[in-house]
Amino acid sequence: MSEHIKAEKAEGVLTLVLARPEKKNALTDAMYKALADALEAADADRDIRVILLMAEGDMFTAGNDIGEFAAANAGRDGRGNVLRFLRAISQAAKPVVAAVQGRAVGVGTTMLLHCDQVVLADDALLTTPFVGLALVPEAASSLLLPARIGHARAFSMFALGEPLNAQDALAWGFANKVVARAELAAAGRALALRLAKQPLEAVMATKRLMRDSELIWRRIEEERVEFGRRLASPEAAEAFAAFSERRAPDFTKFA
Ligand code: COA
Repeated sequence: MSEHIKAEKAEGVLTLVLARPEKKNALTDAMYKALADALEAADADRDIRVILLMAEGDMFTAGNDIGEFAAANAGRDGRGNVLRFLRAISQAAKPVVAAVQGRAVGVGTTMLLHCDQVVLADDALLTTPFVGLALVPEAASSLLLPARIGHARAFSMFALGEPLNAQDALAWGFANKVVARAELAAAGRALALRLAKQPLEAVMATKRLMRDSELIWRRIEEERVEFGRRLASPEAAEAFAAFSERRAPDFTKFA
């Protein structure tokens, strides 16, 4: 288990907490590995009936660690566990609940499309600024986000980085519930415990019937090919350098 992922099992609920608040819970390969390990083990663990995803600090996550994006752009391959995590969360047989405060950037938002229940704090702000980083959507979000909120809104989120606030997320069918920030953890736990009391086989069969896992996995693989190409591009190098130098990127020098 990574020092930045905390896990606790109680009353049928496995709670996984993103715990790197000093870096806004930006996800490293080690964190993806810990999450993948925990999700894979949960499906085989008879004591676990529900998985609850939460985060410490003022935001859910600032998305993938940009330092690791930059290393991959420079040819250093250190992202082997991302795909494992995406497989684990997209194919999880047991129900997944997320409780989200503050910003959820990139994979922070796209992972929510694989959760069965999403509770948002009223300060939640969901963004998928892939194109602004010269990247493309991942985690089957190119399929699932437009299906959830419509093409026009999804394209604005992907291509222009338009944020989705908690109230719109609720109104547009992205989330189940919006609660005050102080009530988020309790609301997430209550929902997970309620689900844990339901007959597990029926819950899992319902989830299986509702999701076309093969289609989702195929899209994750298609996106991965394009994402890999974009990640190695000069435009992406400029975007990552701009983030570390705390300036706006300049893409006009590229054809
Ligand atoms: N990868 C690596 N480090 C990150 C990070 C990321 N995705 N997001 C934040 N951090 C780090 C910052 O570099 C900073 O580190 P430092 O204290 O050593 O300088 C620390 O976390 C705090 O971040 P900061 O930017 O000061 O916080 P903020 O509250 O002003 O802004 C965000 C928060 C999320 C708006 C901003 O950090 C951001 O835009 N992050 C990048 C998001 C992103 O594009 N992710 C990839 C999506 S595909």
